[in-house]
Amino acid sequence: MLDQVKSFIPKDKKISVIDATFGGGGYSSSILEEFNVSELLAIDRDPISQIFAKKIKKKFLNFKLINDKFSNIDKIIKKSKKYDLIIFDLGISSNQIDIAERGFSFQNKGPLDMNMGLSNIKAYDIINLYDEKKIANIIYELGNEKFSRRIAKNIVLNRKIKFINNTIELAEIIQKSIPKFKKTKIHPATKTFQALRIYINDEINELKFSLNKTLKILKKNGLLIIVSFQSLEDRIVKDFFNHNSGKRWRSSRHYPELVDLGPITLKIITKKPIRPSDNEIILNPRSRSAKLRVAKKIQ
Ligand SMILES: C[S@@+](CC[C@H](N)C(=O)[O-])C[C@H]1O[C@@H](n2cnc3c(N)ncnc32)[C@H](O)[C@@H]1O
Repeated sequence: MLDQVKSFIPKDKKISVIDATFGGGGYSSSILEEFNVSELLAIDRDPISQIFAKKIKKKFLNFKLINDKFSNIDKIIKKSKKYDLIIFDLGISSNQIDIAERGFSFQNKGPLDMNMGLSNIKAYDIINLYDEKKIANIIYELGNEKFSRRIAKNIVLNRKIKFINNTIELAEIIQKSIPKFKKTKIHPATKTFQALRIYINDEINELKFSLNKTLKILKKNGLLIIVSFQSLEDRIVKDFFNHNSGKRWRSSRHYPELVDLGPITLKIITKKPIRPSDNEIILNPRSRSAKLRVAKKIQ
């Protein structure tokens, strides 16, 4: 979604930028190369991001990476400093999925980890220690998996024989829990793995907490640009934009605290979320679920 993101960034003025999800640095380096940037502050919870930042640091003195969670965005920035642009490219990076030892992929054998960095739990703890009901709830609520109960039951049955140790063992248990006739386009373990990752990294709260904080950090006319990859996140972003732009919003069980319209501080720039082009989906199938939303701070 980089091209779509860049199409919203002003070319005619100097801008200060926060890239809240640095990852491998693709967005940061492209923005530093192509725009008139006074300062780019990058954040990522994953210590591996330091490796990708090295090259950029050498080339751009106005670049800095902080290894922290973006929910601490207000503590990371210098007191009362404001920015023209805050970008979130949510979810997981290709390098995190591709390294089997991180445990994010059900296609490669790896430990049951899924910690993006700075989290206290691992998938192993949930799968081998949590009770059946709790496992089912996580998979249902964060993965929208309708076979959550069967999956949780089979996890508990299997771990009684021996601890479940790796991603392939878990993926096989999930696969066997889903009725054979249920042929889906996605791998049967996709939703369960997504749910575990969201839970382990507390992704829903991370997003909610940080969105609220961005309002104080954006300059007037500053832009909040968010790319999300799953419906729970997109719903939070959509509700947040609606709530802060005086629009009526539909209540969501995941964002129940929004009951009134808030003060009008944002103008929604993307009436509908922007989706990747067909070409981008062919080149990078992981982008197929991406949704880009942009809002402008108006006061
Ligand atoms: C989709 S990737 C970003 C890719 C990046 N735009 C690029 O060009 O390489 C998302 C990144 O956000 C990071 N991340 C996810 N949740 C985070 C959080 N709560 N705080 C800080 N970083 C987070 C992940 O570690 C991952 O590296």
